[in-house]
Amino acid sequence: MNHKLTRIAVFASGNGSNFQAIADAVQAGELQAEVALVVTDKPQAVVVERAKKAGVESFSFIPSEFDSKQLYEQMIKEKLEELEVEWVVLAGYMRLIGPVLLEAFENRIVNIHPSVLPAFPGKDAIGQTMAAGAENAGVTVHFVDAGMDTGKIISQESFPVAGRDRAAVEQKIHEIEHQLYPATLQQLFSR
Ligand code: GRF
Repeated sequence: MNHKLTRIAVFASGNGSNFQAIADAVQAGELQAEVALVVTDKPQAVVVERAKKAGVESFSFIPSEFDSKQLYEQMIKEKLEELEVEWVVLAGYMRLIGPVLLEAFENRIVNIHPSVLPAFPGKDAIGQTMAAGAENAGVTVHFVDAGMDTGKIISQESFPVAGRDRAAVEQKIHEIEHQLYPATLQQLFSR
């Protein structure tokens, strides 16, 4: 098959506002891609509903039903191959990617993280940023490696925390994410 559009899968565990931003950018013709699949480890997540509304197939699994990450990643890998997915886009997927998917999609897995990496990797990056009294908060898009938010940085945007409470920082981060992620993906895919 000859696909003109880059075929992507979005992995998410929660609200999926970044999935929505990507799907909207595709719809608007700003991102030349096709979201072939949403993958989630939380079958009840809001992102599943969003996928349905956007006409995107979703693939849910329950990690605890598998003996190992290797086994469920093998299953995901088969699904991605069946749909000829070329890039894996993590958007609030709350699990580390293991060797099965890292090898199958070498240099073709990206993530968005709500801090100015390498500062504040891992969970609750916004909470970490506030607790540390950091001058700046922000967003990073990066390639995914075996570590926690340690892969090569692709794009970043930051802003001063001063005068903002946590809710305002969070809101600003989401605003940035919803622009930065689709724009960064478009740049990556048109390389
Ligand atoms: C985003 O803040 C993203 O940076 C982080 O998880 C959050 C996901 O939000 N990795 P949503 O589910 O896309 O709304």
